[in-house]
Order: sequence, then structure tokens, then C-alpha cells
Amino acid sequence: MSNLLNLYNKYTQIAKRSSLNTRSILDIFEYVLDIKIGILKDELKRDINFFKYLKLKYLLDRFINEKPVEYITHKAYFYGLELYVNKNVLIPEDETEELVNWVLSDFPNQKINVIDLCSGSGCIGLSLKKKCDKFNVTCIDISKKANRVAKYNANLNNLDINIIQNDLLENYDKDFDILVSNPPYIYYKDNDVSKSVRKYEPSIALFVKDKEGISIYKRIFDELDKKHFKAAYFEIGYNQKEPLTNLLANYKFKFEFRKDINNKDRMLKIEKLL
Ligand SMILES: C[S@@+](CC[C@H](N)C(=O)[O-])C[C@H]1O[C@@H](n2cnc3c(N)ncnc32)[C@H](O)[C@@H]1O
Repeated sequence: MSNLLNLYNKYTQIAKRSSLNTRSILDIFEYVLDIKIGILKDELKRDINFFKYLKLKYLLDRFINEKPVEYITHKAYFYGLELYVNKNVLIPEDETEELVNWVLSDFPNQKINVIDLCSGSGCIGLSLKKKCDKFNVTCIDISKKANRVAKYNANLNNLDINIIQNDLLENYDKDFDILVSNPPYIYYKDNDVSKSVRKYEPSIALFVKDKEGISIYKRIFDELDKKHFKAAYFEIGYNQKEPLTNLLANYKFKFEFRKDINNKDRMLKIEKLL
């Protein structure tokens, strides 16, 4: 039998020294013990079963070694939704919420078909559906395992969406009004990618082989060029405005870049010129 409070204090100190979020230590305790821990931490003033202690210690060690807490507790939050995440999906990022905001400001609750392309956990499609129940949302991802997570998240949040496994829009012949996408856009040799992201996040969700990181956008634009749609919204890398502007010169699209809260060009909207 081992005392929990000692363990908590020890790992909180280590987390502080490593500039890690100490709240995550509590999240891991709550996850393993399956209880809520109050401010006084009375719940920790007791002994626990040795096997639970070993599990806690193992997970705390992973966290100290930079495994994102979301992959430990399998919980992430996006646009007010609680989502399940595992190693097969990217942890939804705050920046992506700004893309959802853009869509919602252009298209308040209307009866339209919406595609979340490269949907991963389903965070974009699900948050759009949550805000606008009239939207008919389809999530498309190439990864069967990611789609399983999106399906789980749809059930978890009681939201009715379609989930399809497909390679981008290849042979996808259904009509849609708007498309939203946060595709992979990082050059696989990029040195700026943190050790933790490279180690724990799925590479299929992040990396592409071309240096400018625009190969997937090109494939999507080629497909959109053949279709009728109202608007398409993309998350982009902070240094991709220029290569994407050059790429867009090859298409008859109207386009607009938008900066995120950190004043970086992180979003793109395209519309077809009539
Ligand atoms: C950057 S993640 C975005 C996930 C989620 N939309 C988000 O914002 O957190 C990119 C996703 O694209 C998927 N993907 C990669 N290549 C794809 C392809 N050719 N067709 C469809 N999905 C693809 C990956 O499986 C991954 O889930």
C-alpha cells in the first residue's frame, strides 16, 4: 500500500522543474483513480492498491517524459466539446477553433451540406454540428482508426454526422456546399517540430513530403476545381501564405487569408469565381 499524497507532491515538483503543467498531474490521478479531486486533496490522503499505484507511476513517468496528457487521459476539449483522443488522431488545437468561428460567421444555421475533410477526431465537423443542427455534416479521413475515434466522439456528444473513409475527395461524387479542412501540411524533415509531437502524434496527420507543405492543398484544389461549392476553409501553416498564393494563381478561385489571434496567417478561404 502506498500513499497518494506523497506521489502527488513528488511529481508536482518534477513537473514544476520541467515547466510542465502541474494541473495535468491531477488530471492523471483523476483518470487512474476515476474520482474528482477537490482543492483540499482529501481524496489523496489515503493508501491505494499497489497495482493502481504502479499504473499511476507509469503514466506519471510518461507525462514527465513529455507524453501529452491528452494521450494519457484520452480526453481533449474543443469548442466546448469533450472528445476522446488516442494515438491515431491529432490532439485538437486551439487555433483550429478560429477556423470553426470563420465558418460559423459566414454560415449561421442553414440547411447545407458540410464536409470536414481530413477529420481526425472529428473535432471540426462535430463542433459545427453542435452549433448548427441543420448542417448535414460528413467527416472524411483516410485513416480507418481515426474514423473509429470520430464515430466514438459523435456518440459521446450525441451528434448525428456521417463518417467516411476516403483519400481526400477522390471519387467522391456527392454534392456539398462548404468544405472545411485542417490537412497535413508540415514538411517531414521540419526541424521546428517538437520531440514530443514527433514521438506521439500520428505522422499521417502531420507530415507531407514536399518542402513547402502544400502538396495536399494542391490535390484538394484540383478536386475542388471540378466541383460546385460555396466556400472552402483551410487551416494553413504560418509560413504558407506565399507558396499557397503562388499555387492559387493556377486556379479560378477567389481567395482570402486570415490571421489567427497571434497575428499569424493561419487560415484560408476559397470561393469559386462564377
Ligand atoms: C492535421 S490532422 C487534422 C485532424 C482534425 N481535423 C483536427 O483539426 O484536429 C489531418 C488528418 O488528415 C488525415 N489524412 C491524411 N492524409 C489524408 C488523405 N489523403 N485523405 C484523407 N485524410 C487524410 C489524417 O489521418 C489526419 O487525421
